[in-house]
Amino acid sequence: MLDKIESLKSEASSESGIIKDGKSLEDFRLKYLSRNGLLNSLFEEFKEVSRESKGVVGKNLNELKVYLHKIYDEKKQTIETLSGKNSETEDISMPGLKYNKGTKHLINSALDEILDIFGRIGFRIYESDEIEDEYHNFDALNTPDYHPSRDMQDTFYIDSKGKDKKYLLRSHTSTGQIRVMENNTPPIRVIVPGKCYRNEAISARSLAFFHQFEVLYVDKNVTFRELKGTLNYFAKEFFGEQLKTRLRPSFFPFTEPSAEFDVECFLCKGQGCRVCKYTGWLEIGGAGMVDPNVFEIIGYDPEVYSGYAFGMGLERTLMIKYGIPDIRLFYENDVRFLKQF
Ligand code: DAH
Repeated sequence: MLDKIESLKSEASSESGIIKDGKSLEDFRLKYLSRNGLLNSLFEEFKEVSRESKGVVGKNLNELKVYLHKIYDEKKQTIETLSGKNSETEDISMPGLKYNKGTKHLINSALDEILDIFGRIGFRIYESDEIEDEYHNFDALNTPDYHPSRDMQDTFYIDSKGKDKKYLLRSHTSTGQIRVMENNTPPIRVIVPGKCYRNEAISARSLAFFHQFEVLYVDKNVTFRELKGTLNYFAKEFFGEQLKTRLRPSFFPFTEPSAEFDVECFLCKGQGCRVCKYTGWLEIGGAGMVDPNVFEIIGYDPEVYSGYAFGMGLERTLMIKYGIPDIRLFYENDVRFLKQF
């Protein structure tokens, strides 16, 4: 038995020299290491070996087994390396894999641009919380109890049991006006960007959350003319060309007088088309002179100070700028959409 082990070992050793490829490697495995191979048949024979010899023969047999597996593993490795499966021999002259690089979301890059537009004329960024109390979202903005926007149907209230105040998710960034005035003295020139929440039915035109930016300027002798000038400046910078603008009389509890701000339809240049519903104009936000009541609530003297404020929906403004037909596209994370910006 020991002779057989020895001769198998030298046979395998000389045959290992001809293993050059997958085929010869497989032949080697079948001959020596497979279930019906020569190694296993020796193990079969081992069962018949006398008890006294089992120790020596067993040891040699196990050594043979290790030896054969070693040949197999080493040859396998060499063949794989030569055939390029092993990373060390990759062809470094091959073109690399293209990785998709992440980019800023359209909402964020537009916000950056808008903050920059206002930053250039001296407006600082002011961030205000998304969770607010009723006072800052409504009362201090001169919006009384019976105002429809306070309705449960429009505003997301937060369970405030056991709390000192009624909390909610802010329904507009106008809350930032109050926060900034409470904590500063005029002159104030800020832009407040951020998310707002409203309990809206989801459709192509509305979601339960969206972004706004609020602009507030308070100082002595601020006039409506300055408000108009700032809005025109924004329209020119953001839409990239001199679109006509107009202010339409409107009502907001926290501004007096109040207006809605329209820009000329960028598509038809005022001629009337499907996008502007044949009016030639697109509404982009609300504006007005800060209501003296708001100043009184804050503790500013309305005889001394005046100011203007306006707020715009970011998604809406972008839908107009790029002709985006459905607000849901912003948040579905479809790269085919996002990659276009
Ligand atoms: N907060 C108003 C809204 O969400 C928008 C608005 C209107 C903001 C008039 C203003 C303003 O600052 O003066 O509909």
